[in-house]
Amino acid sequence: MKEGIGNIFQNETKYFREPYSPGDLERQNKIEQLKEKVVDKLISLPQPDRENGQPLWKVINKRRSIREFVKKPVSLQALSQILWAAQGVSLKAGEFYLQTTPSAGALYPIETYISVQAVEGLSPGIYHFLPKTQALRMKYEGNFSQVLADAALNQDFLAEASFVLLWTAVFERTKWKYGERGFRYVYLDAGHIAQNAALAAVSLGLASCPVAAFFDDEINSLLGINPGKETIIYLEAVGWKK
Ligand SMILES: Cc1cc2nc3c(=O)[nH]c(=O)nc-3n(C[C@H](O)[C@H](O)[C@H](O)COP(=O)(O)O)c2cc1C
Repeated sequence: MKEGIGNIFQNETKYFREPYSPGDLERQNKIEQLKEKVVDKLISLPQPDRENGQPLWKVINKRRSIREFVKKPVSLQALSQILWAAQGVSLKAGEFYLQTTPSAGALYPIETYISVQAVEGLSPGIYHFLPKTQALRMKYEGNFSQVLADAALNQDFLAEASFVLLWTAVFERTKWKYGERGFRYVYLDAGHIAQNAALAAVSLGLASCPVAAFFDDEINSLLGINPGKETIIYLEAVGWKK
């Protein structure tokens, strides 16, 4: 079958490390080694607070992209609150679970992963957020902060964040309905999600920085996802401003 323009665009706009250097294999081996501690553990998150917090206008005014963090733990409540703001369920309507951020056709093509680096009550590792149950599934245990920063074009501030949100796209969820135009919608969905997370972070006294510069294949391999079906499209570092 002829490949659609969306997939071609997505693949041709990836960043690659070029030219190939011997360090690439070493880096890949390090990622695979770190992923050896596979866990499949479900963790319930505290219920998000849907009522209180700083006024919206103040929060919008205060949001900035921050690139200097002190690596202090954030509470599990704060992580839960930010995940809920990004992708939590705010209305159950019949069989639909409507999320806090809009999604074209309510098809929700974005998945949220978290590189936990300093969160109270959670071991460092890679987690997957499950919006319907406000829970996490731990995938890999270990400290991925530096390999993640390296994979993001050596933006070292990612390693100092308390956690990094990693958003992947499952394009097929939107494509079956909207065809190639669906690609536009998926990227727009991710923008809504990232902004809600950024505002939630400010409301909790935290700071964030969105990041779209990364070596796509390295992050996909870090997350252990099937890049034929799902691929990284956006990151956001969250932590305490220095
Ligand atoms: C799609 C997108 C990708 C971005 N990627 C990066 C990035 O890789 N690294 C970075 O330091 N900032 C990144 N930024 C943050 C922008 O540099 C920042 O939003 C801009 O300078 C405006 O500053 P402000 O966010 O403080 O208002 C990104 C922002 C967006 C919206």
